[in-house]
Amino acid sequence: MTFSSGLADLLAINQVTVPDLWQQEAVAALRDGSDVVVQAPTGAGKTLVFELWSNQGKNRGRAIYTVPTRALANDKLAEWRARGWDVGIATGDLSENLDAPVIVATLETQKNRLIQGDGPSLLVIDEYQMLADLDRGLNYELAICMSPPETQLLLLSGSVANPQDAVKWLTRLGRRAILVRHDVRPVPLEEVHANSLSYHVPSEIRGYWPRLVAKALAEDLGPILVFAPRRQTAEALAAELSRQLPTPNPLPLSTEQKLIVGEHLGRLLKTRVAYHHSGLSYGARAGVIEPLAKAGQLRVVVATMGLAAGINFSLRSVALAAESYRRDEVEQLLKPDEILQMFGRAGAEGSTKPASSSLPPRTSPARCHPAHLSRSGAVDWGALLTVMDAAARRHRDPFAEAVLTQERLFTTKPIVLGVEESLRHPNVPCGLRTDPERARHVRKRVRQMLNSRGEWQDYPHFTATPVRDVRVMAFTDNPEKPPESVLSAKDAAAPGADPVKGSFPAGGPQTWAWFSCCRLWPPQLL
Ligand SMILES: Nc1ncnc2c1ncn2[C@@H]1O[C@H](COP(=O)(O)OP(=O)(O)OP(=O)(O)O)[C@@H](O)[C@H]1O
Ligand SMILES: [Mg+2]
Repeated sequence: MTFSSGLADLLAINQVTVPDLWQQEAVAALRDGSDVVVQAPTGAGKTLVFELWSNQGKNRGRAIYTVPTRALANDKLAEWRARGWDVGIATGDLSENLDAPVIVATLETQKNRLIQGDGPSLLVIDEYQMLADLDRGLNYELAICMSPPETQLLLLSGSVANPQDAVKWLTRLGRRAILVRHDVRPVPLEEVHANSLSYHVPSEIRGYWPRLVAKALAEDLGPILVFAPRRQTAEALAAELSRQLPTPNPLPLSTEQKLIVGEHLGRLLKTRVAYHHSGLSYGARAGVIEPLAKAGQLRVVVATMGLAAGINFSLRSVALAAESYRRDEVEQLLKPDEILQMFGRAGAEGSTKPASSSLPPRTSPARCHPAHLSRSGAVDWGALLTVMDAAARRHRDPFAEAVLTQERLFTTKPIVLGVEESLRHPNVPCGLRTDPERARHVRKRVRQMLNSRGEWQDYPHFTATPVRDVRVMAFTDNPEKPPESVLSAKDAAAPGADPVKGSFPAGGPQTWAWFSCCRLWPPQLL
C-alpha cells in the first residue's frame, strides 16, 4: 500500500460518517437557500456541513471555502484532492486551478471580487471569529457585507459568544439566515492545576515541562497536547521531552513513515513524542502524526499555537506552554477565544475519560471564553476606494455608494465618512463634495466614562441638586463591618470631617475610594 493510497483510505473513513442532527439541519437550511451560521465546539465536525452540501466535491454551483491561514488552505486542498475532488487554491502565494467547482482560499484573495459583485454560489467563511481581529477583521466584515445576494454564506466557528448577532446582521442586509447551534462537547472538560499533581518524579528527570509531563502521564492524564508559541520552541520542547522521559515501549515505524517524517522527527516518534507545525509537510502531519495521535500511539504532541485551528485530532489533556505567540512578526497575547479553541482539543476521540486542561501558572481560567464579536471601529479606506471605483464604472454616485457600504457593516451605530453633509446638500458651487472643513461638521465629540462593568458608556448629564438630597452608595469587602449602605453627602461634607475619609463610618479601601470621589461633587452641584 503506497502512502497516497493509504491516506486516501484513511480519508475515505470520513466519507461514511453519519451526520449528526445539527449537521443535517445546517445542510438542509443551505439546500433551502438560507445563509447558515454554525456555532459548534472545536472538533465537532463543522467541515462536514460543507462536504455534505457539496456532495463530495460534485457541487453544481461554484463554492469557495475560505480559511484564515495559507497552511490550512494547503491542508484542505491536499485532503480533498486525496479524495479525488477537483479543487483549486487561491492564497497570497498560490493560485491554481481556479475554474474548479471547489476553491480553497484565504479570504483576502476574494475580497475585491466580492466588492465588484462577483461571488460564488456558496462562500464558506471558516473561523469567522476573525471578524473581531484587529488587523484582518475589516476584510472579513467587508467580504460578508459585500457578498452578492445570489451568493449563499456559510459561517463556521466554535468560539463566538454572540452568533445570533451575526444572524441579525445578515438579516439586516436583506439576507435569509439561520443559526445552527450545537453546544455539547463530546467529553466533559475538567481543569487540572499543575501543582495539584502529586506523583513523585525521579530526580533524573529535570526541567519544568519534562517533570510536569512525566507527572501527568503517571497520573493517567496522557496523552498530552502541549501548545508552544513558535516552531523552534515546539521542536526544542519535543526533543527535550523525548530525551528526558523514559521509553519502556518504543514505537516501531514503517520504512515509509520514516521516509515521510525524516530522521529527526522519526527519532522523536520512536519515543512516542512528536511536534506539529505548519513547517512540516502535509504528508508528515496528516499522513503520520495525526493518524498516530488518533490511534493513541503517541504520549505527547507539542504543536504551535498558530495552527491550533488546523489540528485534526484531540488528545486527553491540553496544556499551554506560554501566554503569547508570534504572529506576523509581532508578539501577540493569546486571546480568550484562542485559549478556548486550544482547550477545545482536549478529550481523546472515543474516550469516556474526562478531558483535562492546564493553564500556564500565571494565567487565570477567566482568560478562556468565547469572543464577543464586535467591529474594531476602523474604516477600510482602501476597500472603500475600490467600492467607489466600481460604483463610478457603473455610473453610480461613488460617495453615496461609500456611505451605503458603511451602513452595511457589522454595527448599527453610524460610521461617519465625512461626505454625509454634502450628500444632504448636493448643490456645491465649488465642485468639491467634501473637504476637511465640511468633514468637520459631521465629526461628533462624544464624552464617555468607564463604568463598573469595565465598559465605556456615555457620560451622564449633570443636573443641579441640593447637597442635602445627594446620596452616596457605600460598598465594602469586609463582611464583619458592613457600612451604612447610604450616607447623606451633607453629613459627609460636615465641617471637621477628614478630607479623605470624611465622616464615613466604616468599610474597606473601596469605600474610601468611592467616597473621596464623591466629596468633590457637592460644591459644584450647589
Ligand atoms: N457526525 C460525525 N460523527 C463522527 N465524526 C465526525 C462527524 N462529523 C465530523 N466528524 C469528524 O470529526 C473530526 C473533526 O471535524 P472538523 O475538522 O470538521 O471539526 P471542526 O468542527 O471544524 O473543528 P475546528 O473548530 O477545530 O475547526 C473529523 O475527523 C471529522 O471527520
Ligand atoms: Mg474547522
